[in-house]
Amino acid sequence: MKRIAVLTSGGDSPGMNATIRAIVRSALCEDMEIFGIERGYEGLIAGELSQMDRRSVSDIIQRGGTILKTARSANFMTDEGFKRALNMLLSFQIEGLIVIGGNGSLRGAVELMDAGVKVIGLPGTIDNDLPFTDFTIGFDTAVNTVLSAIGNVRDTSASHDRTTIIEVMGAKCGDIAIYAGITGGAEIILTPEHETDLNEICRVLVENNNKGKSSSIIVKAEGVEVSTAVLEREIAERTGLEVKMVILGYIQRGGSPTASDRMLASRLGYEAVKLLKNDVSGKAVGVVGGEVKSIGLRESLEMENTKIVDLNFLTDILSS
Ligand code: F6P
Repeated sequence: MKRIAVLTSGGDSPGMNATIRAIVRSALCEDMEIFGIERGYEGLIAGELSQMDRRSVSDIIQRGGTILKTARSANFMTDEGFKRALNMLLSFQIEGLIVIGGNGSLRGAVELMDAGVKVIGLPGTIDNDLPFTDFTIGFDTAVNTVLSAIGNVRDTSASHDRTTIIEVMGAKCGDIAIYAGITGGAEIILTPEHETDLNEICRVLVENNNKGKSSSIIVKAEGVEVSTAVLEREIAERTGLEVKMVILGYIQRGGSPTASDRMLASRLGYEAVKLLKNDVSGKAVGVVGGEVKSIGLRESLEMENTKIVDLNFLTDILSS
């Protein structure tokens, strides 16, 4: 394979730049030409491809976001948009494509694969909701951002004897909540994978209060069915405690990637290029038990995600 391309798609995540850097430099090392596609599938349809060199990726390993920009492309879902994307790959004589993104983006990669494109998928999302890899690129950074926010909120919650609900991202996955909640010493963690029991939450908070623990942190994943505002009101009404809420939002998606995310990005970026170089495609590449592993792209999206969420039991033991 002589000429490949890379795009980032869906929600950005810290470490996408480190991944692009690894891909570009590994490709050049293998004597391959490498093209960057801007704005994900949207930019592919519009023909926003340009050749990259070593210098195109200088000084980006530490930067959050993605220099290639990203988009959620509705156009790509249409027959016309999809055909244009395919034609664009042909016009630029792209022989292999690396897609960095979350589950929606990798589903797009499967469509391309079915249409005959040689494609490799890499897990770029803060949500950690891709079962084929222990960790997605950006998750560790997002968890550390949340952790720092929990520390700040805890200071003021303790001073005011308040209970504070901190809503974190993750789409339908509770991994950010679990990881940041456990490491931040949250009293309660709420995830979409476990039913939210309001009576139980109120019982724990009142018992804690009776034991002299007058402030508590609840980390709640955004995918939990009951809204954070409703939870805040209901808990306050039922317990008589003072309850506040904070929605962390997009601060979780930005920031300089942690060492762990940069390492993951570097390893997976290199592996993606190596596979294409060896004419292997239709794979999703992740890290399992510390080792870089690739599995079928379609299969990777059919797996069930049960990685981190099972750790919730630790909260009851460690935070009571
Ligand atoms: O997939 C990453 C993510 O940040 C989710 O955690 C969140 O639900 C979603 O993207 C937000 O998407 P948007 O950028 O379209 O608002």
